[in-house]
Amino acid sequence: MKVKLILALFVFTAFSGYSQKFDNLAQTPPMGWNSWNKFACDVSEDLIMGMADAMVSSGMMDAGYEYVVIDDCWQVGRDQNGEIIVDKERFPHGIKYLADYIHAKGLKFGIYSCAGSKTCAGRPGGFGHEYQDARTYAGWGVDYLKYDWCNTTTQDSRSSYTNMSDALRTAGRPIVFSICEWGSTKPWEWAKEVGHLWRTTGDILDRWDAMIGIVDKQRDLAEYAGPGHWNDPDMLEIGNGGMTTEEYKTHFSMWCMMAAPLMAGNDLADMSDDTKEILMNSELITIDQDPLGKQASCYRDNGDYEIWGRALENDGKAICLLNRSDEDKEVQVNFTSLLKTSDNYWYTYPYKLQDYKVRDLWEHKELKTDKNIIMVKMPPHSVKVYRFIKK
Ligand code: GLA
Repeated sequence: MKVKLILALFVFTAFSGYSQKFDNLAQTPPMGWNSWNKFACDVSEDLIMGMADAMVSSGMMDAGYEYVVIDDCWQVGRDQNGEIIVDKERFPHGIKYLADYIHAKGLKFGIYSCAGSKTCAGRPGGFGHEYQDARTYAGWGVDYLKYDWCNTTTQDSRSSYTNMSDALRTAGRPIVFSICEWGSTKPWEWAKEVGHLWRTTGDILDRWDAMIGIVDKQRDLAEYAGPGHWNDPDMLEIGNGGMTTEEYKTHFSMWCMMAAPLMAGNDLADMSDDTKEILMNSELITIDQDPLGKQASCYRDNGDYEIWGRALENDGKAICLLNRSDEDKEVQVNFTSLLKTSDNYWYTYPYKLQDYKVRDLWEHKELKTDKNIIMVKMPPHSVKVYRFIKK
């Protein structure tokens, strides 16, 4: 009887694709910094330590940014036992030294590898070394693993990522598992039990059209996000110079509306006041980190003008007006209908405007809503973000 039970369990485990990632991690979207968008392969011990220092001194850590993640290019080969070899020129004291340094600051440490035989930059990948690498990462004190999808030839995405997830689990150290297969095989449909976040698109570029194109691809994905399992529309480009301040505000606002992971991708040691104001807008970060974890949906699409909304804890709500056009726009804002609009119960939302305070999350002020309807001027590519807080 016992043998039959064990056999049944084995068969179930082997053929159901069953996997159990680490629970209770990433209960809100992960926040941190990643080296790729700004530094690509130009990573080193000095750079990463400098970014950890800057994360603290700039106030980013206090604002909630936590993970310092080295992306591609820290690895150069494998030894005769298959153990990964770190680039000694760039990381002379090895990776554990760096992890210890970052942990001593109260931050967490992340690293990158790839499900294929090589990473996207052609460095050794994890294929065939999953359990060995997971042990190595756990030994180094890794808290977050981004796992890419280059050079995977005929590999199956779900089983490849499940394999690495199981390997992490076996290694025993709780590690946030960030799946990076660019949405190719709809990870939102299968990755909830496998990882804590999954990329939904190809790589972001530091340009308005690329960024807003990514927003468009998140439209139908709201239902798949929640505590411990997030859609990842890629890392932030704020502060890298390719968009206007208004566009970067839109980028940040939409990522917060979408409950996206907030991984800064700029040089933290050299931030303008505008960049700091955007990345450390605590009122928007609170939206992103709302414990309900409800990703925003697009309530209204008037072509180049959209309204996005998401539910917040305590019967609250965040609304984002988005002017996508290249022109100034004057829009009519009807607070009652914004409050009542919802994807679940259209115009039957049970609360009244007088039950709410309304805050403008870029102006950082409470609005007078005695006039239910106001006209708002919006520059090109800009947003207005309102938070309805129940009194
Ligand atoms: C892929 C990923 C990027 C980055 C690079 C590194 O393109 O999507 O985010 O990690 O690989 O080579």
